Amino acid sequence: MKELFLNVRENTTLIKGVTKIKLYNANLPEFTPGQFINLSAGSFDGLLLRRPISVFKYDAENKIFEIVFEVKGKGTAFLSRLKGGDLPGTVFLGNGFSLDQNVKRVALVGGGLGCPPLYSVIERYKGRGVKFYTYLGFSSQSKAILLDDFGKVSERLKVATDDGSYGEKGYITDVLKKDIDIIKPDVILACGPTPMFKALKALKLSIPTYISMEARMGCGIGACSVCACATISGNKRVCADGPVFNIKEVIL
Ligand SMILES: Cc1cc2nc3c(=O)[nH]c(=O)nc-3n(C[C@H](O)[C@H](O)[C@H](O)COP(=O)(O)OP(=O)(O)OC[C@H]3O[C@@H](n4cnc5c(N)ncnc54)[C@H](O)[C@@H]3O)c2cc1C
Ligand code: FES
Repeated sequence: MKELFLNVRENTTLIKGVTKIKLYNANLPEFTPGQFINLSAGSFDGLLLRRPISVFKYDAENKIFEIVFEVKGKGTAFLSRLKGGDLPGTVFLGNGFSLDQNVKRVALVGGGLGCPPLYSVIERYKGRGVKFYTYLGFSSQSKAILLDDFGKVSERLKVATDDGSYGEKGYITDVLKKDIDIIKPDVILACGPTPMFKALKALKLSIPTYISMEARMGCGIGACSVCACATISGNKRVCADGPVFNIKEVIL
């Protein structure tokens, strides 16, 4: 965990209400895919608490990383307007996704704004010969993001929309279920809303599955318990014990 001033290098609107920002600092620490940053969203209007956002891409050589986020309230609205300058942030927090040496085939399952951090997993492990089969779900075509990015680096990219306006109609977990015996993943990594995790758990697959949980956060560093989530071994802190957990452990 490192407190840094992050320089805003680029701000792009991906679709209405969804922003991508490139951030730079010469002293970025080691990063594990799935970790997040806790970003200052200004200190006006009582917005003292920082906002947790996952890392989408990480370029260690050029000391730049990218985040993709949806405008939900005042904090993310403030961040979406940034065109330059420096803002304080704590990088890189939590326990991310890590793959054992014997893992060769990975299914990624992303829902909505949960998709971005899964890209950083491909970035990290593709060079090791790991194959990625990516399944992304959105409510409709107008909400679909990052398809070109994932398409370029995945062995297979499948998309589902709730209304059928793009890709297959229905839930992305059902698309995964249909493919599972073809792609034969060693592990499944997922990030998205809780109903998606519930659907994934309901598939009762005998494949190790890890999910990145979201929770409202206070401190972001394990000190306040605001982010508690229920697990089979009691409450755990999403920020410090997660955000990545074994799906078997979390009570959804
Ligand atoms: C580990 C982690 C990683 C995240 N990564 C991303 C990301 O990559 N991209 C992205 O778009 N968002 C991400 N989020 C969610 C993001 O942090 C919230 O949307 C943001 O903090 C909202 O701040 P705000 O001031 O704009 O809205 P607020 O005014 O604080 O809240 C507005 C509404 O947004 C919802 N909301 C706020 N915080 C959360 C939350 N943590 N989880 C679910 N709903 C929330 C609530 O419905 C709330 O009523 C992540 C959250 C966590 C915990
Ligand atoms: S946000 Fe304070 S312990 Fe997680």
